[in-house]
Order: sequence, then C-alpha cells, then structure tokens
Amino acid sequence: MGGTCVIGLQWGDEAKGKLVDILTEGMDLVVRYQGGANAGHTVVYGDDVYKLHHIPSGILNDGVLNLISAGVVINPATILDEIDGLQARGVDVASRMKISRRAHVVMPWHTLEDRMWNRLVSGEANIGTTLRGIGPCYADKIGRSFAIRMGDLIRDDFASRVDQIVEVKKKVLSATGAEDIGSLDAAKIVSEFSGYADRLRPFVTDTNRIVLDAVEAEKQVLFEGAQGSLLDIDHGTFPFVTSSNASGTGISSGSGAPGNWLTRIIGVCKSYSTRVGGGPFPTEQDNEHGEHIREMGKEFGTTTGRPRRCGWFDAVAVRYTARLGGITSVALTMLDVLSAMDEIQVCTAYELDGERIDYFPSHAEDLKRLTPIYETLPGWNHDVTGARTVADLPEKAISYCQRIQELIGRPIEFISVGPDREQTIVVDTLTA
Ligand code: GDP
Ligand code: IMO
Ligand code: MG
Repeated sequence: MGGTCVIGLQWGDEAKGKLVDILTEGMDLVVRYQGGANAGHTVVYGDDVYKLHHIPSGILNDGVLNLISAGVVINPATILDEIDGLQARGVDVASRMKISRRAHVVMPWHTLEDRMWNRLVSGEANIGTTLRGIGPCYADKIGRSFAIRMGDLIRDDFASRVDQIVEVKKKVLSATGAEDIGSLDAAKIVSEFSGYADRLRPFVTDTNRIVLDAVEAEKQVLFEGAQGSLLDIDHGTFPFVTSSNASGTGISSGSGAPGNWLTRIIGVCKSYSTRVGGGPFPTEQDNEHGEHIREMGKEFGTTTGRPRRCGWFDAVAVRYTARLGGITSVALTMLDVLSAMDEIQVCTAYELDGERIDYFPSHAEDLKRLTPIYETLPGWNHDVTGARTVADLPEKAISYCQRIQELIGRPIEFISVGPDREQTIVVDTLTA
C-alpha cells in the first residue's frame, strides 16, 4: 500500500473535489499540500453544495483527519469564514482538521501586491490571477526574509515581525504607485491578526509528524491537489501558471510525504478543456461550440465567478501531464456536458512551423502559434446523467472514452456524468 493522490491534468476545475470526497471513505487522512484560496473545490450531495477553498474535500466525512500541510498558503480570514460556514451547516471542522505550522500566511500586503502586479501588466501578458495574493505570498516564501508562517502568526513576537515587514513593504509599494497603501497599518494588522491567531491556534500543529507517522503505520492517506498540472509553476504554461507545483511533482514537497510512498496517482481531466484567466489554450473554441460547453457545463469559476474559456479535449497536453505525474489511472469527468453534440473534436497532435509535432511545447509563445490537429468523433445525443455503469452508456460515448484512454495512455478508472457524488461510474473494463 501507499498514498493515493488526486491531481488535475488540465488547467484546474477538473472536479478534483468531487473525486476526493468519493475516495475519502476508508481513508485516515486527507491532505491539501499546495495552493490556497485560489482553489475552489465543489462537493455535491443532492441539494447540498459545498464550495471549499483551503479546507480539504474530505472534511464532510466523519472519522477522517484533514490536514493543510506545509506547501499551502493560508488567508486566515478566508479560512475562518470557511470553518464558520461549515460549522453552521453541522460539519465538525474543529475535530476533523489540522493546519501545518510551516504553512505560509497570506498577509494584506500580498493581496495589495497581487492587485498591483495585475494592474501593471496589461493585455495578453496579463496572467489574470484570482487576486488572492497567492503569487506574492509564494514569492515571499522563496525570498524568505519577509515571510510569515502559521507558526509565526501564533507566536508572541508576531507584532514585531509585522512592524519590520510593513515598513519595507510600504516603501516598495509606494515606489510602484500602489493604491490602498494606507490600509497597511501595522498596529491594525496586528490587532486583526491576533484575533485570527487566537481562533486558529487550536488547529495549528506539526503536520509533518502526522504524515510521517501515517506513512510508517501504513495508514490510508489521500492527497488532494489544487489547480491543474498545466498551471504548475515549473512544468506548466509559464508564465500563465499559478505559483506552486500543481502537478504531481508538488505532492511530496508540499506534504512532507516521501515520494516513493505515493503509489496510486489518479489524474482528473474533463472530457473537454477549460481555462480561467490569461495564457495560451491551443484547443480553445471562442465560438458557438465553446459557448455550448460553457452553458451545458455551467463553466463559471468557483472562486471568482469568471466565465471559463472552453474548448476541445487536448490529448497532447493531457498525455504530457499524465506522464509528468506518473498517473496510474484517470478520472474522466463532465461526460454529460458533451451529450447534446453531433460531433466532438479531439486534438491528437499540433502543427508548429509547418511540422507535425506530438509533444507539448515548453514556451507559451509556441503554444500560442501552433495549430491543433483534430480527429472528429461522433456524438451520442443521449442523456448520460443517469448512467451508473459503463453498460448504461451509449456505445458512441464508450467509444469516445476508449479513444481518450488510448490517446492518454493510462486506464480510465472513473467516469463522472454529473456533479452529484452518485453520478459516478467506477470502470471495470471500458467495453460495452
Ligand atoms: P475542482 O476545482 O477540480 O474541484 O472543480 P470545481 O469544483 O471548481 O469545478 C467543477 C464543477 O463541475 C463543479 O461545479 C462540480 O459540481 C461540477 N461537476 C463535477 N463533476 C461533474 C460532472 O461530471 N458533470 C457536470 N455537469 N458537472 C460536474
Ligand atoms: P482549482 O483548485 C482554475 C488560475 C487563475 C490564473 C492563474 C494564476 O479550483 O482547480 P493565481 O491566483 O493562482 O496566482 O492565478 O491560475 N487558477 C485556477 N484556475 N482552477 C483553480 O483552482 C485555479 N487556481 C488558480 O485563474 O489564470
Ligand atoms: Mg475549482
């Protein structure tokens, strides 16, 4: 045995939250290991919809400990809102969750910096971040000198640390003409954050010890990725990425679990593609096909409400991220969204400078210039939301899944046909 991991294979929002909730039963721990409140993971039980940003999607299950480990960046006010919202709905977060002392804190200057950076870069070069202060917080983590971790937030010398940092941040921000610098008042921040510290202190602990003890005791641990592999800071469509390792490469660094213990790595991908924010998107359909997908899939951001850009399935991109993540099986989601189409396109290769290529280029400019090469597959024109086994699916829908499985080169283990946890097919063999 070893750890089970769920990671996104595209640009995020692949329905990782739904899959994590399903897989939580029988787990001892569920661990979020990177990202922060830029993530929005949805879990649906009938009419009950839960939207989670920092808190692991295992939180709705009793008897499972949820960890927010070292690689996550935490906005104290936002996580407290999440905790309160869940507690008000009867979810006992207090007994089910721990937060790492090593996790970094998103401070008010980080959100200001995110807004300022966003304003200074216009047009096509704009990343279109979630404006949650994620990039600036990770930048300070790497820079070290001006970083604050959860362990610092709950210590007595927190106030002097804020004093020192605010003095420097104010100078830097005023030199670049940032607005709202007036809100950076050290005394006010200390007083506000002391209240957060008091409420969060019972959650804060050394999660590395919990993870390493679980590894040694061969417990069942589920790692929940945020964002998607194509948004990975090192291996994604840089610079149009997030600031953490959102591919499988981040699991070990972010959680502290040894890499060779991670044995089951499930890659989640939609039956088509979406992306929020700026950056290259080779198979984007800025036309009636894209609009149809957006409407059928309700493709609007869970965190920011922005309309998601929509397009065809890109098998070159997903084959790349499946290899990068050492994916052992795939969860193919949103199959129902394609149900009302006569024909469906799948990108199987690209053309770049007159040459056919079957790899994912490393430079954003090449990704913008290339032309996707499509294969056309027949649609099934049949509602699949009630399917619970492969045999319930129309033959053409099965053929579509088979072709995707072949192109990715990994077995499909789950097919999702609707938002509800019940609307899931566990695949034994992918034949009619
Ligand atoms: P995550 O960030 O990967 O957890 O995904 P999000 O929660 O941001 O976005 C996925 C959205 O699709 C949510 O609103 C889910 O409730 C919904 N969803 C999940 N699986 C399916 C599916 O198979 N079909 C449809 N139509 N919606 C789904
Ligand atoms: P989940 O976990 C989709 C995108 C933003 C932007 C880029 C950088 O729900 O799949 P950031 O605020 O991280 O600096 O923004 O990354 N982005 C996401 N897109 N799903 C997410 O998370 C995302 N988190 C960040 O839209 O393009
Ligand atoms: Mg999401």
